[in-house]
Amino acid sequence: MKVVSVINHKGGVGKTTLTANLGAGLAARGRKVLLVDLDSQASLTVSFFTQTEWTDGLLPTRTIKHWYDDVGTANAMEDMTPLIVAPPRVHTRLSRSGGHLDLIAAHRDLSDVDTALAAGLLVDPGRFGLLHRRLRDGLSHKSLAEYDIALIDCAPNFGLIAKNAVAASDMLLIPTKPDYLSTNGIDSLGLKIRTFTEEYNAHGAGPIDRPPAAVIFTMVQNHDGKPIETQRSVISRIEARGVPTFSTTIRDSKSVYGPAPEHGVPVILGGTGRALTRELRDLVSEFSSRLDRTAA
Ligand SMILES: Nc1ncnc2c1ncn2[C@@H]1O[C@H](COP(=O)(O)OP(=O)(O)OP(=O)(O)O)[C@@H](O)[C@H]1O
Ligand SMILES: [Mg+2]
Repeated sequence: MKVVSVINHKGGVGKTTLTANLGAGLAARGRKVLLVDLDSQASLTVSFFTQTEWTDGLLPTRTIKHWYDDVGTANAMEDMTPLIVAPPRVHTRLSRSGGHLDLIAAHRDLSDVDTALAAGLLVDPGRFGLLHRRLRDGLSHKSLAEYDIALIDCAPNFGLIAKNAVAASDMLLIPTKPDYLSTNGIDSLGLKIRTFTEEYNAHGAGPIDRPPAAVIFTMVQNHDGKPIETQRSVISRIEARGVPTFSTTIRDSKSVYGPAPEHGVPVILGGTGRALTRELRDLVSEFSSRLDRTAA
C-alpha cells in the first residue's frame, strides 16, 4: 500500500476537498482506498458521514484518536482495522467499480491529543521514535495490505500528528492557492518537512527519505480555459523555482464544491458540471502516474 499525505499548514486551501475527490476518483477506477482524517475539525469525516453518524456511531470507539490512546502501554491498539468504517452513500455509487473507499474518522479532541503527546515528549525525549512512528507502524501492518493506497488529510498545522503523516508517507501533495502569500507558505512548509525528516533520522527513528512532494493549484480562476493573469504569474514563479507542480489545476467553484459534503458524495462522483469533473478525472490520472513513478 502506498501512503500519500495531503498537507499544508496554511488553512482553507482545499486539502480536504482534494483528499475526498482523489480518494473517490481512485475508488471509481477500481482501487482500494483508505482515507485517514487527521484534523479535529473532521471535515473529511463529515464529507462522508452525517454529523449524527459521526458523533453517535464513530466518536465513542472508532476514530484515529483511539490509535493514539495509551500509546507505549500494553493497552495500546496493535491493529488499525477495528477503526475502519465504510461510508454508506459513496459505497452505493462505487458498487459497480470493483473499487472500495473506507475511512478512519477524526476525533474532535485530536488537537488536544497532539498537544499532550508533544508535552509528554518534552518530558521523555526517548519516546521520539515511538510517537512519531505510530501512524507509519499502523499503516504498514499486514492487515491493511489489501488496500492500494491510503490518503491522509492533515490539519492546518505542523504538529506531532502531522509529522506522523510525513513519516508514514511515500509522497506529499501540497494544495496551494495561486496567490502571492502562498509562495512563502510553500517555502516554509518545505523547510519544516526537511527539518523534521533530518530530526527523525538523527533520533534513530528511521531512516526515512524525505517524501517527494508536489504542489496542486486549487481555487484557480480561469478565463478562456487558462488561469487569469495574476494567478498565472504566481504559478510561473513557483514553477521557475523548480518546485514540482501538477499540470492539472482545480478551478474555483464555490457553488459546486460548497454543498457537496452535505450530500456525502464528492463532486467527482456527483455528475455536476462536466468540465469540472473532467478536470478532477485528469487530476486522478496525473496523480496515479506520478505515484507509480515513486519507489515501491
Ligand atoms: N476548488 C474550489 N473552489 C471553490 N471552493 C472550494 C474549492 N475547494 C474547496 N473549496 C471550499 O473552500 C473551503 C475550504 O476547503 P477545504 O475544507 O477543502 O480546505 P482545507 O485546506 O482542508 O481547510 P482546513 O485547512 O480548514 O482543513 C470549503 O468551504 C470548500 O468547499
Ligand atoms: Mg481540511
